[in-house]
Order: sequence, then C-alpha cells, then structure tokens
Amino acid sequence: MVKRRLFLLLFLCLLAGSRIASADTNPQDAAALRSLMKKWTKNVPASWRKSNDPCARWDGITCDRNSRVTSLNLFGMNLEGTLSDDIGNLTELTVLDLSSNRGVGGTLTPAIGKLANLRILALIGCSFSGNVPSELGNLSQLDFLGLNSNQFTGKIPPSLGKLSKVTWLDLADNQLTGPIPNSRDHGSGFDQLLKAQHFHLNKNKLQGSVPDFLFNSSMDLKHILFDRNNFNGSIPASIGVLPKLEVLRLNDNAFTGPVPAMNNLTKLHVLMLSNNKLSGLMPNLTGMDMLENVDLSNNSFIPSEVPSWFTSLIKLMTLKMQSVGLSGQLPQKLFSNPNLQYVVLSDNQLNGVLDMGNISDELHVDVRNNKIISLAVYNSFTGETLELAGNPVCGDSLLSSMKPCTDLTTEPLHKPPSIDVQCANPFVETIVFRAPSFGDVVKFLPSLQANLSSKLNSCTPNNLGLVYSNDDAYLNVDIRACPVNQKRFNYSQVLNCFNLTLQTYKPPEIFGPYYVKAHPYPFHDKTSRAVLIGVVTGSLLLVIGLTLVGVYAVRQKKRAQKLVSINDPFASWGSMGQDIGEAPKIKSARCFTLEDLKLSTNDFREINAIGAGGYGTVYRGKLPDGQLIAIKRSKQGSMQGGLEFKTEIELLSRVHHKNLVGLVGFCFEKGERMLVYEFIPNGTLSEALYGIKGVQLDWSRRLKIALDSARGLAYLHDHADPPIIHRDVKSTNILLDERMTAKVADFGLSLLVSDSEEGQFCTNVKGTLGYLDPEYYMTQQLTAKSDVYSFGVVLLELIVAQPPIHKQKYIVREVKTALDMGDQTYCGLKDVMDPVLQKTGDLRGFARFLKLALQCVEDLGTDRPSMNTIVREIEVIMQDNGIRTGMSSTSSSFSIDSRTMMAAPKYPYSNASTSSTAFDMDSRAFEYSGKFPSEGSLKNRGT
Ligand SMILES: *[C@@H]1O[C@H](CO)[C@@H](O)[C@H](O)[C@H]1NC(C)=O
Ligand SMILES: *[C@@H]1O[C@H](CO)[C@@H](O)[C@H](O)[C@H]1NC(C)=O
Ligand SMILES: *[C@@H]1O[C@H](CO)[C@@H](O)[C@H](O)[C@H]1NC(C)=O
Ligand SMILES: *[C@@H]1O[C@H](CO)[C@@H](O)[C@H](O)[C@H]1NC(C)=O
Ligand SMILES: *[C@@H]1O[C@H](CO)[C@@H](O)[C@H](O)[C@H]1NC(C)=O
Repeated sequence: MVKRRLFLLLFLCLLAGSRIASADTNPQDAAALRSLMKKWTKNVPASWRKSNDPCARWDGITCDRNSRVTSLNLFGMNLEGTLSDDIGNLTELTVLDLSSNRGVGGTLTPAIGKLANLRILALIGCSFSGNVPSELGNLSQLDFLGLNSNQFTGKIPPSLGKLSKVTWLDLADNQLTGPIPNSRDHGSGFDQLLKAQHFHLNKNKLQGSVPDFLFNSSMDLKHILFDRNNFNGSIPASIGVLPKLEVLRLNDNAFTGPVPAMNNLTKLHVLMLSNNKLSGLMPNLTGMDMLENVDLSNNSFIPSEVPSWFTSLIKLMTLKMQSVGLSGQLPQKLFSNPNLQYVVLSDNQLNGVLDMGNISDELHVDVRNNKIISLAVYNSFTGETLELAGNPVCGDSLLSSMKPCTDLTTEPLHKPPSIDVQCANPFVETIVFRAPSFGDVVKFLPSLQANLSSKLNSCTPNNLGLVYSNDDAYLNVDIRACPVNQKRFNYSQVLNCFNLTLQTYKPPEIFGPYYVKAHPYPFHDKTSRAVLIGVVTGSLLLVIGLTLVGVYAVRQKKRAQKLVSINDPFASWGSMGQDIGEAPKIKSARCFTLEDLKLSTNDFREINAIGAGGYGTVYRGKLPDGQLIAIKRSKQGSMQGGLEFKTEIELLSRVHHKNLVGLVGFCFEKGERMLVYEFIPNGTLSEALYGIKGVQLDWSRRLKIALDSARGLAYLHDHADPPIIHRDVKSTNILLDERMTAKVADFGLSLLVSDSEEGQFCTNVKGTLGYLDPEYYMTQQLTAKSDVYSFGVVLLELIVAQPPIHKQKYIVREVKTALDMGDQTYCGLKDVMDPVLQKTGDLRGFARFLKLALQCVEDLGTDRPSMNTIVREIEVIMQDNGIRTGMSSTSSSFSIDSRTMMAAPKYPYSNASTSSTAFDMDSRAFEYSGKFPSEGSLKNRGT
C-alpha cells in the first residue's frame, strides 16, 4: 500500500516534470537559435549563454503559447559575425530585427525565404553584402522590409514584386545597380506593390528609366525616395496621379525631359528635383498648397520669369531654385510669407530692385550672381542672412564692403544647435531625416526634443540630448540618452526603449521620413581585467594606509579616541594642499561618493544649479530614496572653500535643531569637496521679503520667522557644545521650508567658541556688508553679540522689506532717523516701512518688536540682548497678541497659500563675499514637480 502510494507520488512527480519540460522552447527552434549564436563571435547577450531556455530567459526572444519563437530582436547589440542558414528553421518567426549591428555581415542567407510567417524583416545598418536573395520574394506576409544601410550589390530581385503586403520597402544606402524591376520586363516588379507606402531606394547606383506604369492611382505611396542614383529618361507622368504622395525626391539623378503636371498632388510636402537634366517649361506648382520644401535647382528649364506660385504657396519654408534660368524682379510678397526660412535663387537672371519689405533676420536669402541693381529694406534687417555677392548692386561703393556683398559660400547657414547631456555611458543613436521640410532646424529643435523626450521618458527621464548635423543632404540627429540611477543601460532597456527602427516613433510631420542607426554600446566593461587589477592594488594600498594610520594612532595616544573610523573618507585630507588643519570630525553625516552625487544631479547639469557664489555652485539633487537635497560644490582649488568645508561639516554634523538647516552628508573625493544639505523648498527670507512678486508675508508670519531664526541662533549660542558663532547672519541665510518654518543656513564662516576664554576672538573681519557689527568691525573682537547685531538688521528688514543697504541708504540709520523725526512714534516710519504691512493695518505688538530690533543694533555689544532674551521677548510679543508661537515642530498656525509660494522656490547658500543678488537665478529652474524638469518642459512652461 505504502509502496503503491510512493509509486503514485513518483509518477505524479514525473508527470509534473514532463509538463515543465514541455514548457521549454521548441527543440527545433532552440537548436536553430544555438546555431545562430555559434556564428556570432562577439557580444551575444549573457542570457543566451547562461540559460537553456530561450523562450523563458533569452534577451530579445519572444515565443508564442506553443513555445515557438516568434520574434528575434537584437537591435543595437554590437553583435559580430554572420547570419546562420539555420535561421530558416525558425518557421514561426514573425519579427526579425538585427538592425544596428555593424559587425554582422556576409551574404544574406536565402534561408530567410523559408520564414513564411515573417512580417518584419529589419537588417538596417548591418554589413550584409552580395546580392539581395530573391527568396525574400517568398515572404508573402511581409509588411516591413528594411535592408537599408548595408553593402548589398547587384540588382534588385524582381521577386520582391511578390511581396503583396509590403508597406515599407527600404533598400536605400547600398550599392545596388540595375533598374527598378517591373512586371512587364522582369516577370514581377514594384508596379505590383499596391500596398506599399514607402519606396526608399535613395543612395544606390540604380539606373535605367522609370517606366510610366510603375505607378498608378490605386497605390498608397506616400514617400518616393529615388534620390542619389543614376536614373535617366523622363519622370513618369503617373507620379502625378498618386493621391497620397507626400514626399518626392528625385534629385541627383540624370532625369531628362519636362516635368509632368503634378498639380493634383495636393498632399505633397517635399518636392526635390534638383541636379538633373530636366528641360521644358519651368514646373507650374500652382495649387500644390501643401508644399513646404521645393528644390528645383540645377536643371535646364526654358528660362522664364518668376512664376506666380512663388507667392501663392503659403506653407513654403524652403525654396531652392539655383541656376534654373529665372529672370525678372522678385515680388516683395515672397518675403512676407511668415513660414519662409530659406531662399536660394543664386545663379539666375533676377534683376531690378530687390525689395524685401519688412524682412526678418530669420529669413536666409541667397541671390548671389544675379542682375540685381538695388536693394530696398524697410526695417532694422541687419543683412546677416542676405547674400548678394555677384550682383551689380555690390558695385555700389556703399554696399561693396558690407556683409551681404562678401561671398559667404563656405560659411554654414546656422551652426546647428545642440542639447547635450553628459554621462559615462550614454546610449547614442542617429535618426537620419531624409526629407525635412525646413531649411533651418533651429526653429524645430524644441518640438523634436519635446516629442522625443515624451516618447523615451520612461527609459531616460529628462536625460535626453540631441546633437544635430547635416550630412549627405539629410539631417542627422544624434540622440544621446543617459541612464538614470544605473551605470549603463542593459540589453532589455535598449531593446525596449530605443528600437525606433521599426518606425514606432512618429516625429513631428515636418521632419519627414527617417531611419535610425544605433551606435555601438558598451554593455560590458571592456576593461574588466584592468578594473580587477585596480581593485586589488587599491585594497593593498588601503591596507598599507590603514597600517600607517594605526601606527600614527598608537603614537598619538592622547588623541587616539578622536581618530575617525576605519573607512575614513578624509584619508586624503591634507594631501590637497588647500586642506587646512586636521581632518574634519564627523558624527552623523553620511559620506557620499562622487558617483552618488553625479547621479542625483544628472551629472551636475546646469539645469540643476540653483545658486552660485564665490564658494562654488549649489545644485539641487534627488537621492534614490526620493529625498531632495541641495549640494554645495566648492570650486576646485579654492583655499577658503577648504577651510569652510571643514568647519561646516564639523559644525553641521553636530548641531541638530529644527531651525537650523540639516546636513545630510558630504563628499570628499577626487579633489571635490561637497556638502549635502536637506533641500529647503521655499527659498530665502530675502526673496520672500523683496525678491519675488506675489509672495506676501503678513505680520504674524514675519513674527514667526523672526522667532524661528532666533531660536536657531540661540541654540548655536547657548546650547551647542561648544557654542557656535554664526558670523554671517543675514536674510539670504534664512531659509523657509514648505511650512514656512525658518531655518538658519550657511555655517561656512562660523567659529567654535571652544578654546577661547570669554568667547572672544581676534579674527580677520568677515561677514556681509550691511549686517556687520560695527564694534566687531572696529575692534576685530568677535562675540556672540555680533550675531545679535546682524540679527537686528534682519528684524529691521522684516519691517522695511528692503535690503539693508538700498539706494545708498543704510537700514539702521534710516529707521533711527525716521523715528527721531516722528518723535519716537512709529508714524515717522511711514516712509521707510513696507507698504504691504501698512496696508494690512493690524500690526499687533509692532512697537515692542521695533524696540527689540533697535536694541539688537545698539552700538555696544553689551547693550544688546542675548539671543535667548530675544527668543523670549518675541514669544511674549506673540503670546500677548494671541499669535501662536508654534512650540512643537509640527504645529504651525501659519497656513500657507501654496499657490503664492510656488512662485518663490529659490535656494540660497551664499558665502560672505557674495551679495544676495548672486542668487537671483531664473526661478524656472527651481520649480519642482517630482522630476527634474527637462529643457524642453521648461521651455514649454512659459514662465
Ligand atoms: C534545420 O532544419 C534542417 C532541415 O529540417 C535540419 O537538417 C537542420 O539540422 C536544422 N538545424 C538545426 C540547427 O537544427
Ligand atoms: C522561393 O523563392 C525562390 C526564388 O525566388 C523560388 O525558386 C522558390 O520556388 C520559392 N520557394 C517557395 C516555397 O515558394
Ligand atoms: C487631376 O484631377 C482631375 C480631377 O480628378 C482630372 O480631371 C485631371 O485630369 C487630373 N490631372 C492630371 C494631370 O492628372
Ligand atoms: C499654372 O497653372 C495655373 C492653374 O493650373 C494656371 O492658372 C496658370 O496660368 C499656370 N501658369 C502658367 C505660367 O502656365
Ligand atoms: C519596441 O519599443 C516599443 C516601445 O516603444 C515596445 O512596445 C516594443 O515592445 C519594443 N519592441 C521590441 C521588439 O522590443
């Protein structure tokens, strides 16, 4: 019985086992994939080697329910090798995309013809050579055929005419020769491809004439790219009846004869017929109202007057008709077309007056080598973008030396702008736009940036750079995408994010047809051996270093307890020359690596800079756990920075108070010194008071701010151990958090009151003009009362809402004078007081507050109250007047109008030598919406 049960159990187990086995990839498919892998000599994804089950684990493989492989996508993997014949055994394959593997080449195996279910075949940007196999014609389900940018030679196989479902046919950028196959001459041909929307044959060596029956009105063709071949004969009239045609590029061929009527092509955006041998009448483009880019240059048309459609095609952006025999005077109306950007009419017979009316400098006009005798412009047009050389008008002595008359042939139109990102391992791919409508990309950069960013946002949030170049008469845009919170992208991210090859991305229409080439990506460290050696040597050095520290510690027995822990981030302290004294002693601050902070700030991108001063730059950042931080990065090599760095870490890591800005950590690495603070979102007191419109601090809120900051300072003076003198109290060093709680910041100048006798120091006078204690200034004796004086100035600022030195007047003297004149009633203050306060009227406790402020700015330190006294006094003022003082850190009676505060998110941190205006940065940079704003999104925000 027991035996039987055991047996049953065993049987069940076997059954289960076999079920799992059957879930494995179909063995025929698995064998085929392994055979493919054998032919690839480099960069096969690690997952292919590690696992035996392609369907479950291999990158780039998708399977159906029967565990048959349906999709093989290894776009941009840097593979090297050839494509095995055994690809033909993957008979259920519907998608085969090996694009952007420059190292994959050889002849293309005819076995691909066996993939009867294939819908997408993309081998774009590989290195296949030899003939395009005629067996491709057997792929009856094929929708997308992309063989462009390889090295195929020979003729286009007529069998491609049997691809009755194909919509995308791209053989561009190869070395193909011979004619375009057609059914009458070759048995089958392109005239049968009724579903095709794209004939991309550009950049080959195709020849022969294009027969008229190649096109008919039942075709869906949108893009015909035949440019840069050797086609001859006349342009087939049948092109003029394709109802959906948007782009027609026949330029750079040897077409002859007249241009057929195309007036029914009402959807055509781009018409490029340049550099042929076309003759007959100048094409009449009347009624082709969608035209944006027209290039008819360098043909042999019958010379004619300027055609009437010059002024009727109102969408026109680019008009090029160089050397086509145009004569007569250009109509002024041409230049008033607001869409027009780029006009090239050089080497014609244009004459008379060039009357451009109110032309803008954005319009580039090249009319060199014509017969123009004078120039009329009515506004401040600078002539920077006009080229007139070779016209009689330039014989005029006045004009001859001016820009328009100097030959600019070699100068590029505009240096294409770039939005670049920096990181160690950006993924780069080039989008090649084959027929953009515009002549000048500058205007359309932001729309592309925004469009692409939204497409790629989940993969590389706001980390997208675009770099433009014009090459081969196409527009190349390099996308540079930086990985976020990781060192580099992995295979699946590249496959899922950047596979734009299959036309899943729709750029703004104006950019026209495109294709994509990924650049080789370093998925692995090439230098892993070197890194290993580095690690080993590094650890050896560390061990030696620790030993030395140990010896040192034994010697300095007295101070041994003060020595910091084993992984001392300041091990290199003192080696930099600028580091002064002993290494900082840290209690609770976290040591960040340079890499951590680079990640959190997108590699210290400009956009994340939120303040700058003599000390360096302050960046906003976000830690992986979501915490917002402000990073103060000192300028490399600044002496003062070194000392302040040390002081501030030591102080801030010891003091913890809700009214003091908290130090999160620091970074001391590779000559970098950075302090990491908590991020305080609502900017500085000075900004709230007078920096930004729309923020109104009412009286009770101002009292609360005074109380908060007084509490912070009182803590420093009386509760910190040893006590601390701030030395740079000012309104730009008081920050407001999201609850409008004030926090005192910037301890860069602070001094410890430890070793001194009576808390008096003889120091070089430091501080900020306007806040400086006159007694300290004269005697160089620093005491806590110097902070009190500065704080008194801040209290006066709360009343006056002006910087302490304003229009050459000093706040302390101003207030005192006003009070004298007003007989010590504050009526006299009217002229200097913040009008906002005067309007609200209800200023409970104002007189007492004013009295306190004036006590703080007494000439003699001994006459000033201590910070503790000030705290108590402000508390009493508030309590007497029924204003809550907010004893607990969470309760606050000051509800905040979040809408008004949104306008003020700036961030301070200055050093003494910096005036508050150094932080008057563009407020757009400080809006925080949970993600770092991209350049594009900022632009669109329209602040
Ligand atoms: C592919 O199929 C052919 C014919 O069925 C067979 O001879 C060959 O061994 C297969 N290749 C692999 C790698 O299984
Ligand atoms: C595949 O194409 C080749 C050449 O075009 C042809 O000879 C062959 O008969 C085709 N095979 C099938 C199964 O259709
Ligand atoms: C344009 O279309 C109209 C109406 O559909 C037709 O009568 C005319 O012949 C067409 N013109 C050309 C050149 O095909
Ligand atoms: C161009 O075509 C339009 C409409 O088809 C016609 O009105 C105009 O006269 C033509 N212009 C020339 C110069 O043939
Ligand atoms: C290509 O990218 C799209 C998203 O843009 C994604 O949905 C699709 O699965 C990707 N294709 C492959 C084969 O990974």
